[in-house]
Amino acid sequence: MTVAIAHPNIALIKYWGKQPGPGNLPATPSLSVTLEGMRTTTSVEPWGVDTLVLNGTESADPKISQFLALLRQQFDIPPLKIDTSNDFPTGAGLASSASGFAALMTAINAQCELGLSACAISGWARQGSASAARSVFGGFVSLGAPNWEAKQEFDASHWPLNVLVAVTSDVRKHTSSTQGMTISANTSPYFNAWTETAADDFQSAKDAIRHKDFESLAKVAEHSSMKMHALMLSSQPALIYWNAGSLEALAKISELQSDGLDVFATMDAGPQVKAVCTESAAPAVSEALNALPNILRVVHTRLGPGATTVAV
Ligand code: DP6
Repeated sequence: MTVAIAHPNIALIKYWGKQPGPGNLPATPSLSVTLEGMRTTTSVEPWGVDTLVLNGTESADPKISQFLALLRQQFDIPPLKIDTSNDFPTGAGLASSASGFAALMTAINAQCELGLSACAISGWARQGSASAARSVFGGFVSLGAPNWEAKQEFDASHWPLNVLVAVTSDVRKHTSSTQGMTISANTSPYFNAWTETAADDFQSAKDAIRHKDFESLAKVAEHSSMKMHALMLSSQPALIYWNAGSLEALAKISELQSDGLDVFATMDAGPQVKAVCTESAAPAVSEALNALPNILRVVHTRLGPGATTVAV
């Protein structure tokens, strides 16, 4: 048996939409931070028939079955029991598929002795879920052309940003990211504008991170997140991932910015709000978010490492 752990990541420059054709190639480059405070733990072992246990319950997941079928076109992989669990809400906009496929591919590589490099593991993880390509690496991670294997831009120690996740719901989202992206690409009049402006945002964010320029990073990251949500809202049917708690948190973060704190907000395909801030701003941001009526809890995390196997 092999056990691997991986951490979710939060995109500061968002991926939303795919290129046509195979390989699950994103339509936009993205840039993320890997979070140490939340984790997926996945074990794999040879078994009579493929079996998936998700958070303690035997489950069926077509994305995982399709992923195994794809891998078996290239590698000799026996039937496997996959036992995977998250210590954070699953399918609620907290990147559980990112850490999930990163941990799974890392575990399969070791268990089946595939001998793949971290880049190649990332390329395979992307085919399961594109954001998973980024969770293979720690710190600040990009996913872009031409090869669409993720790359570590800077490790976690380069800039010790903190992320406070304001959890506003533990309920599984109604429309998955994969479905939502197809709907946006097919129906939003803003889709071309989204893909055309992504490369500039990606470059600005990389520059801001290189220079540890918080104000510039905040500006471009909030813009990328809000543009993605504008795209979602302009899809038919509209993809509304926000709830009352999300709006409360966004308003509070904006207030904290006006008070001069180094903090910005980003949201994914779910109602949780992630407040990215400097180490020194974190206590005040945490206190302010915790005091809001519709916030269930605040998870405080820092930047963390990539996926790895662990001894059993
Ligand atoms: C909003 O990686 O979950 O979190 O490739 O279809 O599995 P698939 O999508 P997924 O999408 C993540 C979208 C996002 C933004 C991001 O993480 O870049």
